Amino acid sequence: MRVWTLLVLVPLLAGLAACGQTGDGLAGENETLVIFSSRHYDSDYALYEAFEEETGVNVRTIEADGDLLVERLKTDGVNSPADVIITVDAGRLWRAEQEGLFAPVNSAILDAAVPSSLRHPDGLWYGLASRARIIVYAEQRVAAEDISGYETLADPAFKGRVCARSSGNIYNISLLGALIDRWGEDKALQWAAGVAGNFARAPLGGDTDQIRAVIAGECDMALVNHYYVSRLMKEEPEALEGIAMFWPESAPGVHLNVSGIGVAKNAPNPELAKRFIEFAMQEKAQRFFAELTGEYPVTDAAYDNPALPSLANRAIDPIALGKLGENQARAQQIFDKAGWP
Ligand code: FE2
Repeated sequence: MRVWTLLVLVPLLAGLAACGQTGDGLAGENETLVIFSSRHYDSDYALYEAFEEETGVNVRTIEADGDLLVERLKTDGVNSPADVIITVDAGRLWRAEQEGLFAPVNSAILDAAVPSSLRHPDGLWYGLASRARIIVYAEQRVAAEDISGYETLADPAFKGRVCARSSGNIYNISLLGALIDRWGEDKALQWAAGVAGNFARAPLGGDTDQIRAVIAGECDMALVNHYYVSRLMKEEPEALEGIAMFWPESAPGVHLNVSGIGVAKNAPNPELAKRFIEFAMQEKAQRFFAELTGEYPVTDAAYDNPALPSLANRAIDPIALGKLGENQARAQQIFDKAGWP
């Protein structure tokens, strides 16, 4: 039995704690793995199905926004049914880690598969899929050589021409956390104020909306996660004509973030949870992220997706992802001070 549940309301969250978890009764097939996830992507459903097929285990998912998931895990405490926790961003992983929601995993397989910059030093969480925060721009209105990096978004030459989503969004908070780490707070504030001063319009919608605003000519460049571009390239290639991606490689380098995964502190099935995470790092599983969602594998898995340009020769910010979490509160304060709504 598989139950996909999308949670949107808190009362519903409480009610689901009592849901049954029985399998189909076939020998060896009555184990159930409960995954709490903030991701709602086809790649993940393919991953769950592949794990079920290979192991005979039933995967039951409970999906909700990151903050709701954390609240649910805290409220349920030792009675939590969650075996595995998946969040969309290192900033959220850090929050769950601070709340003590993860159990450490000791796995030579995971240590070998996932680079140390993309996992917690004590195995509390691991990157699952990686994403780059990049700049998209309209080739007709911006010359590639006029963009040098994230700093270009704050360049007065682009006054009234830049789009980005709101500062409360975790992707922006994580990016600014990385810039604080490399540039220091003063320069990070200057940058955020410069970007806010260049806005073509007040922040509105998600990353895809920013890309569409560039397409529509409302702005000339936007700050977005790369996979939203990859996704549009696959679904509406004609819409992206004249739109290009710029990889901000100047210091600190391209900001890479991860969706991450860990074993829940009170997991009823911690060994099964570990087995699932190891499964998720296998080449076949990592390809789902690259091919179905347009994210980068966290391992060296090869993939086939022409809409996903290789990162192999890019300058990537080598920051340890835990730092993004540590700088979260400071980043939000700086955004507020900078007038980036
Ligand atoms: Fe996203």
